[in-house]
Amino acid sequence: MSRLDWKGLVPYELLEPNWRLWSFIAILVVGFWALMTFPVSQLSGYIDPFYSPTILIVPLPGAFRLTCYAYRKDYHRHLFNHPLGCANPDRGDAVSRKYTGERSGVFQLENFHRYFLYAGLAILPFFYYDFAHSLAFADSLRLGSLFLLANALALTAWTLSCHAFRHIVGGNVDCYSCVAGGGARKDIYDRQSWLNKHHEALAWISLLTIFFTDLYLRGLSAHLPIDTTLLRF
Ligand code: FES
Repeated sequence: MSRLDWKGLVPYELLEPNWRLWSFIAILVVGFWALMTFPVSQLSGYIDPFYSPTILIVPLPGAFRLTCYAYRKDYHRHLFNHPLGCANPDRGDAVSRKYTGERSGVFQLENFHRYFLYAGLAILPFFYYDFAHSLAFADSLRLGSLFLLANALALTAWTLSCHAFRHIVGGNVDCYSCVAGGGARKDIYDRQSWLNKHHEALAWISLLTIFFTDLYLRGLSAHLPIDTTLLRF
């Protein structure tokens, strides 16, 4: 029996009642509503990462994050209950139910992850600009600036540890000694491979740093006395 419905566009996973999936969608909707309704885009020289460079382009880096392998594993397993762990005898909720992964319906968009990577790379300099802007605004290093920098570094580490980026820097080469600059390429590939081993952790850390930085700035906008000057120039 086909697991697709509505002309094959809506996968079975999206149609079955699943409180975790619908709570996740509800959190997303409330989150986006809050971002649009209560913006803190600029505050005392700080630029909120959700608005850098502008929330209007969020769909592209958002698509990059949504199609990341680290999150795919989690949302296919925990939101769609499929497939559960290999050692789990209850893999899938029905014998006839087959895991189709990125081969069915809207999940086919996951295949575009390698292209969304370019949006993820393009947006990185803006986070460093935001950090520099916060320094120049007050001619000092403040706690909030450190959070902006930590967020920029976490996002950079996550993006550069991407599996698609691994393919670009060296995964597409069969023989390093056969191509020009192969030695340097292999060196970069090895370094990226080390980063790649930590990709899943970096995916979650970078997500948390965005939310934490946003919350910190919202705390400032609520006049909480949490910011302090660490160094004057
Ligand atoms: Fe996670 Fe590319 S696989 S960002």
